Amino acid sequence: MTETLYSGRFEEGLAPAAKAYSYTLRQDLALVHYDIRVNQVHAQLLERAGILSSDESETLQSTLADLDDAFAVNPEELLGDDEDIHACIERLVTERCGELGKKIHSGKSRNDQVITDARMYCKTELKGLKKKVRGVIRQLLVLAEENIEVVFPGFTHFQVAQPVLFSHHCLAYVAMLERDLLRLDQAYVSSDVCPLGSAALAGNSYGLDRDWACQALDFARLSENSMDAVSDRDFLMETLSAISLCMLHLSRLAEELVLWSSDLIGFVSLGEDYSTGSSIMPQKKNPDIAELLRGKTAKTSANVMAMQQLIKSLPLAYNRDLQEDKPLVYESVAILSGSLTCMTGMLASLQINQDAISAVFAKGYSLATELADYLVKKGLPFRDCHRICAEIVRYAIEQQKPLEALSLEEFQSKCGDITEDVFSVLTLDAALAVKSVYGGTAPEQVRFQLKRLKEVYL
Ligand code: ARG
Repeated sequence: MTETLYSGRFEEGLAPAAKAYSYTLRQDLALVHYDIRVNQVHAQLLERAGILSSDESETLQSTLADLDDAFAVNPEELLGDDEDIHACIERLVTERCGELGKKIHSGKSRNDQVITDARMYCKTELKGLKKKVRGVIRQLLVLAEENIEVVFPGFTHFQVAQPVLFSHHCLAYVAMLERDLLRLDQAYVSSDVCPLGSAALAGNSYGLDRDWACQALDFARLSENSMDAVSDRDFLMETLSAISLCMLHLSRLAEELVLWSSDLIGFVSLGEDYSTGSSIMPQKKNPDIAELLRGKTAKTSANVMAMQQLIKSLPLAYNRDLQEDKPLVYESVAILSGSLTCMTGMLASLQINQDAISAVFAKGYSLATELADYLVKKGLPFRDCHRICAEIVRYAIEQQKPLEALSLEEFQSKCGDITEDVFSVLTLDAALAVKSVYGGTAPEQVRFQLKRLKEVYL
């Protein structure tokens, strides 16, 4: 029978099927660096508690440091028939330090160890993700600045609604991503708690100095209850939720890139470095990367649900179900990380097609609301203005003319309050300029926001 961490209790080994079903060594490689660090700090804790001599503690720590280097070079060489990374590290230490290696697990359990590792993993990854979110924000700011004057059709119901600045549209995504940064920060704060010393569930019996471990492992604070500490997965749920929301935002933007770059719309073209061709239709240039981003969002959303379902019926404290938590997080982290990199690249490759954008305004009636607002300022009740303008729009459509091409006589035949000054209101520039409320699309407001954001992110 193969030796395991618990062989003493058993006469028979695990069935091959059960082993294949439950062992996680390879997927645990994401944690190896953290697991080694936790073992090093734990050796120091045992030394401080008088369980290990300082020589013994030193030996363990340098052995662990060598292992950390070796794992960075060639992990395959070190992996054996171990259940998980904790068993693997203990075996490797014991192979190198003999009897001393067998002392390392005093006063700790894989239950507190794995979750300490996972918290360290999340802290590192959340920092990396935040950096990449800032990268997308910077690219959006560049795009907004380079196209600060471009007037763009704003949509509701995907019907042309009112003119906006393209830069205003870009900054809407910056607003979403700024909230994502706050949520990733909050997930970081929730991850930044040290459970080490909680052992299996009840705490350890050696008086290990948890405050010291907390500092040594660079955690902000200690967990307060050993049973909660080994079974709490809230921080993973928060990490997954923050990731999923950020992916939803990127997915909306990806969807816009798909629509905008379509032959039917053509507002933008994506660079060839973010487009693919068709194996059969020679003319095609497809936005596959944006589509994939949209598709991968299904997984990051599903992973939030999976984590919730994992927790919902678990009695205290640790249950093996909890082993299913980490792959969800690894997957979501990898998806968001790749998506942020690709979104930054796609935005950098974007070319605006001014002709396609102008064509929308030439045939649309996006200034109809301006006409209604004009009549309100003349003292008419808005509901009447709305009806009058609707009649004028209907008339213009019948005449196949844009609103601003109607003559003053035509306007006045519908409403005697309309005078010559109506033509100064019915321009894209005038429509933008009057949206000067804080947060509106008037150029001065957008410039103000752009300046504010550049100070924060550039
Ligand atoms: N592989 C386990 C996990 O990821 C580590 C803890 C196992 N604990 C145990 N008592 N079997 O959750």
